[in-house]
Amino acid sequence: LRHLISLENLPAAEMLRLLDRAESLRQEWFANRRKLDLLHGRTVVNLFFEPSTRTRTSFDLAAKRLGADVINFDIASSSTSKGESLVDTLHTLEAMHCDAFVVRHKENGTAEFLARHVRSAAAVINAGDGNNAHPTQGLLDAYTIRRHRPDFSALTVLICGDILHSRVARSDIHALRTLGVGTLRVCAPANLLPAQTELPGCEIVEDFDTALGGADVVIMLRLQKERMQHAQVPSEQAYYARYGLDARRLRLARPDCLVMHPGPINREVEIASAVADGAQSCILEQVGNGVFVRMAVLAELLGT
Ligand code: CP
Repeated sequence: LRHLISLENLPAAEMLRLLDRAESLRQEWFANRRKLDLLHGRTVVNLFFEPSTRTRTSFDLAAKRLGADVINFDIASSSTSKGESLVDTLHTLEAMHCDAFVVRHKENGTAEFLARHVRSAAAVINAGDGNNAHPTQGLLDAYTIRRHRPDFSALTVLICGDILHSRVARSDIHALRTLGVGTLRVCAPANLLPAQTELPGCEIVEDFDTALGGADVVIMLRLQKERMQHAQVPSEQAYYARYGLDARRLRLARPDCLVMHPGPINREVEIASAVADGAQSCILEQVGNGVFVRMAVLAELLGT
């Protein structure tokens, strides 16, 4: 693996190798609680042009736990504010011998664009581009499910919410299809659902109560109002009434159904607090798993 831009064409064997590596790094971390020196002397740059709590912090921690130096590039105070282009910024940082660029940007295709312009051996990792892809989130979601339910072929996984604007949904679908999930189902209001061609291998069910039937895992998504046009923005109360996951609705799924959400969550908009904080919720576990998955990605891409 040279860069990690999308999960769309990543073979199952490569995904499984990353998930296995995340598991062994997790075990090593909990056994010793010591930094490793796998990336000693390497530098990882976090280039976040959009806000982030989980992804940015976990890449920072992941790189440090592997012994790398980390630059959290401050976009606002950088020379990008004087008009320096993305490519010139990349080449400037490469001239300082940085080894990996973790990139988040509102425009689809930014990470791929930078990967095409890299001149050194540095790796580019997509930390989310527009509504296109968020590959490390897809991997950490698959990793979290696998820790609870290792036989993917037996599972029904439901993804519910603003699928249209969600890079997480796209990466989750690519990961879970490749890894052989039995039934992959999506549920969204009609105006927040992409074309069927963007949902390969998915059942589409518009009624949330119906969609929950038989679900082993439900992944809830927030309304991405920042990516919506005015007419697409639903009233939060009306949305919650039809698509909010509350305790009554959760009982329509299998009794041990896992509840997931990539975060940030909007309580009482797409998910009730009682469910987000309840016994079936894996939401904070996903956050913790993100560090081990990102350690695995950095270790693999930087060739150690
Ligand atoms: N899941 C996710 O990408 O969260 P952040 O936006 O906080 O990184």
